[in-house]
Amino acid sequence: MSNKDHWEKVYGSKASEAVSWYAPHLETSLKLIHQASANKNSAIIDIGGGESTLVDDLITEGYQDISVLDISQKAIDVAKERLGKSADMVHWYCADINQATLPQNYFEVWHDRAVFHFLTEEYQRVKYIEQVTQSVRHGGYVIMSTFGPEGPEKCSGLDVVRYDSEKLHGQFGKGFKLIDSSTEIHKTPMNTTQQFLYCFYRME
Ligand SMILES: C[S@@+](CC[C@H](N)C(=O)[O-])C[C@H]1O[C@@H](n2cnc3c(N)ncnc32)[C@H](O)[C@@H]1O
Repeated sequence: MSNKDHWEKVYGSKASEAVSWYAPHLETSLKLIHQASANKNSAIIDIGGGESTLVDDLITEGYQDISVLDISQKAIDVAKERLGKSADMVHWYCADINQATLPQNYFEVWHDRAVFHFLTEEYQRVKYIEQVTQSVRHGGYVIMSTFGPEGPEKCSGLDVVRYDSEKLHGQFGKGFKLIDSSTEIHKTPMNTTQQFLYCFYRME
């Protein structure tokens, strides 16, 4: 099954609140986005946004230039439906992050919670980082959240790569200044816990 088919099937068979990565609000992501930019005109992109409520919260806070990219059309449709009329103010991209055509040197904030860790091959990670480097503007911010060293080895039945901040920085490296990193314990709807890593970078 292709990666896209996998994710269409997941979102076609589970409610938004039933997936292991569900959280009512992505509190840490929001906190870091505030730290990155208080300017409501800043361009923000959520990579692999899925059906998460981050976009709802950003709209409520008044951000004017929000993009959401996901490989699953079903996830995008559910998020759009939930948002109603407000969905029209979001730029939606249904694409694989490594094949997407994104504006160059444009975004002030790049946010990814639980997508990069699915890139198990080096060439995929290289391509992803090329996408970030080309589409985030100089001085912009990159918020990356993956499973931490004690996180699960799989998510949604797929293998993941777990990271600590040193290992993740080793992937991003030069050009990405690590401003802050932290781990947090996510409580899943199944009442299990998962360790997540958050890294906050500034593009130099
Ligand atoms: C574990 S979920 C996380 C969703 C959301 N970021 C959150 O924190 O609730 C991973 C998401 O990434 C999307 N995804 C997986 N691989 C992708 C890829 N190569 N390109 C774009 N999106 C992808 C999936 O469809 C799914 O919505």
